[in-house]
Amino acid sequence: MLFKGVGLGVLSFVGGVTALNNGLARKPQMGWNTWNTFGCNINQQTILTAAQAIKNSGLIDYGYEYVVIDDCWSVKSGRDGQGNLVADPSKFPNGIKWLADQVHALGLKIGIYSSAGTLTCASYPASLGREQQDAKLWASWGIDYLKYDNCNDAGQSSQQGNINRYTAMRDALSSTGRPILYSLCNWGVAQVWNWGAPIGNSWRMSGDITANFDAANNGCPATGSGGYACSIMNILNKAADITTKGGPGGWNDLDMLVVGFSNLTPDEQKLHFTMWAAIKSPLIMGHDVTKQNSATLAILTNRNILDLSQGTWSVATRTYVRSNIQLWQQNSPDNIDRIVIVLNSGGGDQTLTVPFSDIFVNDSTRQAGTYTVTELWTNSVSNSVKGQITITVKKHGVWVGKFHPSGAISTSVSTGTSSAGTRTTAATTTTAASGGSQVKVSSTQTSPTRLQIIY
Ligand code: GLA
Repeated sequence: MLFKGVGLGVLSFVGGVTALNNGLARKPQMGWNTWNTFGCNINQQTILTAAQAIKNSGLIDYGYEYVVIDDCWSVKSGRDGQGNLVADPSKFPNGIKWLADQVHALGLKIGIYSSAGTLTCASYPASLGREQQDAKLWASWGIDYLKYDNCNDAGQSSQQGNINRYTAMRDALSSTGRPILYSLCNWGVAQVWNWGAPIGNSWRMSGDITANFDAANNGCPATGSGGYACSIMNILNKAADITTKGGPGGWNDLDMLVVGFSNLTPDEQKLHFTMWAAIKSPLIMGHDVTKQNSATLAILTNRNILDLSQGTWSVATRTYVRSNIQLWQQNSPDNIDRIVIVLNSGGGDQTLTVPFSDIFVNDSTRQAGTYTVTELWTNSVSNSVKGQITITVKKHGVWVGKFHPSGAISTSVSTGTSSAGTRTTAATTTTAASGGSQVKVSSTQTSPTRLQIIY
C-alpha cells in the first residue's frame, strides 16, 4: 500500500532534503476552506453548498479539489465514552462520513481540522496524545486532508516539541493506510520550513492572512512567526527568503487566498494570486464560493497564472526589492524560458525600464539574447525584445512576463535561480539546472517549443 508504514518507507530524498513521500501534493494542493468566510458558523449545508458551487462554477475543472472543514466542527464539551471526537449533531446531523460521501460523489475531496494541542484555537477538543485514535476515526469517515493547527501546545513550543507533536500525527495518518494530505499549520514557529518537509505536505510559514494589501497590524509582526490579520505584503516579504524550501510533496503555505474579498482591488487580488501561485503556496480559497462574481472567477481560473503553480516552473525566487518595486523569477525545467514578475506595492502606477542585466543577472549570454515576451494577465505579446523592456505596473499591481528566446541560446552559464522540483539552488558557471540534477552543458542549444502544461 502506497501510504502504509512510516520511517524509511515514508521518506525519500528530494533535492537533497528528505521529504514526506505519501504520494500527495506533488503539486501545491488546491481547494477551499470554511474559516475565512464562515468562522465557527459552519454546518453540513455550508460544506455541501460550497462543494456544489465549486463544481457548478467550474472551479473543479481547474484543480480546486479539497473542501476543508476548519475549526468548530465537533462537540465542544468533549469526546464520547470511547474517547472519540464527535461531530456536533446540531451542525452535522448526518455525520461527517455521510458528508464525505456527498462531497466525494461530486468528484471532490474532503478535509478536516484539529490542533497539535490540548484544544483547538477556538477551544474545541484537539488531538495531542490522541493522534492514533483521531487519525483512525477520520480515515473511517473517508477524510482526505488534515489541517493541523498549533494552538494550546501544552508547553511543547520548542523546535523539538513542534517536531514531536507534528511527527506523531504524521505517523498516525500513515498508519491508517489512507492517503490523507497533511497540512501543518504552525504559523512559521521554530522555522518550520527547515524541518517541515519530512513531516508534512505543506506548512504555514506565517500568521493568519486577512484581506488587506499592506496595512500594518499590531496583531501581526513585521518579521517572525505567528500573529493574525497579516496583510498580503507582510506575508509575501516573510516568504521571500525561504521560497526554495518548498518542493514536490512539501510546500510553504502562505495561508489561504483572499481573492474574492471586496476590500481588495482587482489589481491587489491579481498580485496576490500571482505570487501565491509562483511561490507554489497551496491555493486554498476562502471566499464565499456560492456568491462569487465573474471577476473573482476570472482571476482564480486564469490558466496562465495557474500554470505558474501547477506547471513545471521552478518555485519563484526574489531577484530584488527596490523601494516599492520587486522583481521575482521562475525558470522552466530546461532553463530556457523565464517568468519575470514585477510587482508594484506603491501608491501609484509606475512605468519602468528593466534592463536585461537586472533579469539575467551575471549572465551575459542571456542578456544579449532576443526574446518574445508574453504578459500573462493580458496575453499581449512583444516580439524581438532586446536589451531591456519597458513596462507599466499598476498601483498594487503586477506585470508577469514569460520570456522565450527568439533564437538559439547557450545554457553554459549560471542562472542563480533554482530549478523546478528541487530544493537545491542551481548552478555553477559551467552547469545548468535540469530536472533536479546538475548537468554539464557546454554547447549551444536551439530553444525548443515549450509544451503548455495540462493539469
Ligand atoms: C488558527 C489558524 C487559522 C484557523 C483558526 C481556527 O488561527 O491559523 O487558519 O484555522 O486557527 O480557529
